[in-house]
Amino acid sequence: MTKVDDAIKHYASAETRQLEDLKTLVRIPSVSFAGFDAARVRESAEATARLLRERGFENVRLLEVAGAHPYVFGEWLHAQGKPTVLLYAHHDVQPAGDESKWKTPPFEPTLGADGRLYGRGTADDKAGIVVHASALEAWRAAGGAPVNLKIVVEGEEESGSDHLGEFLRTYAPLVKADAIILTDTGNFETGLPSITTALRGIVVLTVEVRALAQSVHSGMWGGPVPDAAMALCRILASLTNPDGSIAVPGLTAKVRPLTAAEQKDIESLPTTNAEFRRQAGMLDGVEILGGRNPWEQNWRQPSIAVNAIQASSRKDARNIINESAWARVGVRLVADMDPKETIALVTAHLRKAAPWGVKVDIEVEGSAGWWATDTSHPAFAAAKRALETGYGKPAVFMGCGGSIPFVEPFATELGGVPALLIGVEDPYTNAHGENESVHLGDLVKATRSAIHLYSELAAVLQR
Ligand code: BES
Ligand code: MN
Ligand code: MN
Repeated sequence: MTKVDDAIKHYASAETRQLEDLKTLVRIPSVSFAGFDAARVRESAEATARLLRERGFENVRLLEVAGAHPYVFGEWLHAQGKPTVLLYAHHDVQPAGDESKWKTPPFEPTLGADGRLYGRGTADDKAGIVVHASALEAWRAAGGAPVNLKIVVEGEEESGSDHLGEFLRTYAPLVKADAIILTDTGNFETGLPSITTALRGIVVLTVEVRALAQSVHSGMWGGPVPDAAMALCRILASLTNPDGSIAVPGLTAKVRPLTAAEQKDIESLPTTNAEFRRQAGMLDGVEILGGRNPWEQNWRQPSIAVNAIQASSRKDARNIINESAWARVGVRLVADMDPKETIALVTAHLRKAAPWGVKVDIEVEGSAGWWATDTSHPAFAAAKRALETGYGKPAVFMGCGGSIPFVEPFATELGGVPALLIGVEDPYTNAHGENESVHLGDLVKATRSAIHLYSELAAVLQR
């Protein structure tokens, strides 16, 4: 039996324990947002560190950056003369959202009859942590991994990775590697192994409109007195045209056209518009926007979302003219858009759209750059082979409409080494929404693929 077969065999006997590892992490509500208990994120970092240690990582410790939730670091450096691979996942999660919409408690991992484990972070991204941990453990049981490994498990990905720059300035030498494997993306379909080759960037703005010193009686004053909520609606409405396309002048000017290879990759994906509608949960009669293949639109075009709006509240709704209104607006960016320029264009547009002399305050909450890779490096073919072996199905390249702030600065810092983005977030995962889940069959297949990937990479990476 070859070593890789031995490692795979060992993993088969460790699957149940991996599931328990995942449940242990999911029980910790490691929400990294401001206003949530930071002590729980630290507890999650400590639980992650314990797990990495138990599964064989060495020199495991929390890496601190002032003001940031802790990162977890570990390494296994006994593959002498072999290349080094940096593994990435994140241990923080999004807030649970509306708890009344959860069918099972968000932080009590629950196995469904559909073979999925439900709970916040089951897929995004605590699954990523246990994939890495179990893959190393399997290799150790087989006598040692074929590559050197380092792992970084971030604690503030979901809140925008605000301290990445500082992290790199402090720890760059520690994370030097010849390739990166990130387990924080998805498969195009359950059971269909996928490698993500592009991420969108993001710019998040908050807009506050103020018109009055205080809210007033809507009958006593309505008519001559402008309504801040109405003004905000007009401002937000100006972001799109009637057909849903982006109306901010210049915003799409730099969008990089698709290469023939990208076009072909997208066209060859097994999907239809009807399937897309079903997966996204679009109600009957609601239109698909953009006029392109919906996945091309999602991966390769910018988009704007109004994530939250506030002016009074449903509970307090009464006959008033609101003195102010607030919204959070997220703009997704693609190659070759510049985050700073996007902020400037959107901000100028919002200000110009403000009616009736209302006051407009715009703040930038955060931003992250887009990332795109070409796939000519042999590490990508190696990853395809590993995934095909692990899933028993040929792998596909796909894009991603979401963002992972870590990827671009790290790939650059490491001198453009290949970054392999793989993961278990399938179209039914509902990450960030209620009832998030991971498909346990895919968790197993992803771990088997990770095991194969180490030996595949040992053969193709330059040290
Ligand atoms: N794991 C996701 C990225 C992702 C999104 C992968 C969609 C596959 C499909 C990641 O945790 C995430 O949610 N990123 C944030 C980044 C933001 C907070 C800067 C996002 O995209 O909103
Ligand atoms: Mn994630
Ligand atoms: Mn996420």
